[in-house]
Amino acid sequence: MSWALIPLSEEQRAIQQTARDFATAELAPHSDRWDRDGGFDRTVADKLAELGFLGMMIPEAYDGLGLDTCTYLVALEEIAAVDASVAVLMSVHNSLPTQMVLRYGSEAQKERFLKPMARGEALGAFALSEPEAGSDAASLQAQAVLDGDHYVLNGVKAWVSHGSLADVILCMVRTDTPAERKGARGISTFLLTPDMKGLGIGKKEDKMGIRGDPTVQIVLEDVRVPKENLLGEEGMGFVYAMQSLESGRLGIAAQAIGIARSALEHSVRYAAERKQFNKPIKEFQAIQFKLADMATRVTASRALLYAAAAAKDRGEPITQFASMSKLMATETAMWVTTQAIQIFGGYGYVKEYPVERLFRDAKVTEIYEGTSEIQRIVIARELYAKS
Ligand code: CAA
Repeated sequence: MSWALIPLSEEQRAIQQTARDFATAELAPHSDRWDRDGGFDRTVADKLAELGFLGMMIPEAYDGLGLDTCTYLVALEEIAAVDASVAVLMSVHNSLPTQMVLRYGSEAQKERFLKPMARGEALGAFALSEPEAGSDAASLQAQAVLDGDHYVLNGVKAWVSHGSLADVILCMVRTDTPAERKGARGISTFLLTPDMKGLGIGKKEDKMGIRGDPTVQIVLEDVRVPKENLLGEEGMGFVYAMQSLESGRLGIAAQAIGIARSALEHSVRYAAERKQFNKPIKEFQAIQFKLADMATRVTASRALLYAAAAAKDRGEPITQFASMSKLMATETAMWVTTQAIQIFGGYGYVKEYPVERLFRDAKVTEIYEGTSEIQRIVIARELYAKS
């Protein structure tokens, strides 16, 4: 589908083509199997790393590609259009763990954790939610207690994307005491590694969509974490997570646009081939109107996303625009994939055709990294903050 509204530079077009070729050659042949069997393995990340796609926005001084947000999102959409599960791995790694260490980490932490993540040798994950703390993230209960030069961590983190494959886990836990609860300001972020004694991979979720990327619980049982693995300041972990989720939400918007675009492209082709009542169904206005609305919403979502990403690259605040982008793109993905199934009719409802997976993959984009309801809360709060 035409990118005409977004003027891409020559470099961006080259990266777009690289991502498209890679996705077609290396991901497309395996996507159905990963979806069916419920998980890809670590080699997917190794392949992304070969292209530099796991360190896209990290400066070259820390072994990344030093690209801007817009260029990263161009590549991410191409990956998502072919395999949305690989796209969430790429999105989480590039916008949450790597950006958090870049922004708030010490030089020693950047050397030890950021550089390997930027090179793609270490895969990053982000552990904020818990079984009882989803939208109300600040109510999380996992606890760290200082004991000499270590913190001792206990609790269960939930919904951790590719947590079972990760080499570095950015984990939010409480550092206030139960007697002196400080709300969001009682939360700190720690850099965990899977070799830490007491850190276990818990339940693997059997998901509706995004089945390639394994989603797991992380169980912390008396995990002794050296003090030097505290990221930034104690008590600032929630603020760091919220700031980083702004970038994350742009990534999920690009993922959703990739899914929606793919559903649109499949629908355009199918409507030209499929004949009913002696003519291709694209000749019926009922189908034309659907395709026109699908294309309009995808284009509008992308235009909003790139305006928000450009604002981020100029260093402007994007809290509201990131939420608007995610809200619009993810609801577009759900709506467009629903229309695609309708256009395909019975064939849209079976696994033999691609739109069935796109529909399942689209749903979670309205849920993770902040539900649509949370995005609306953030947008509305900013309206009052500005008035
Ligand atoms: N940037 C910087 N600071 C921020 C911020 C932002 N975007 N948002 C909040 N903060 C700060 C506030 O200023 C406040 O700081 P002070 O203590 O100095 O006042 C502090 O954080 C607490 O903020 P709130 O009072 O606004 O906190 P809240 O409890 O009302 O929560 C919320 C706000 C928007 C509802 C938030 O909880 C939220 O976004 N919830 C959704 C959680 C979410 O997105 N989870 C995603 C899970 S990760 C995931 O899905 C990844 C994956 O694997 C795919």
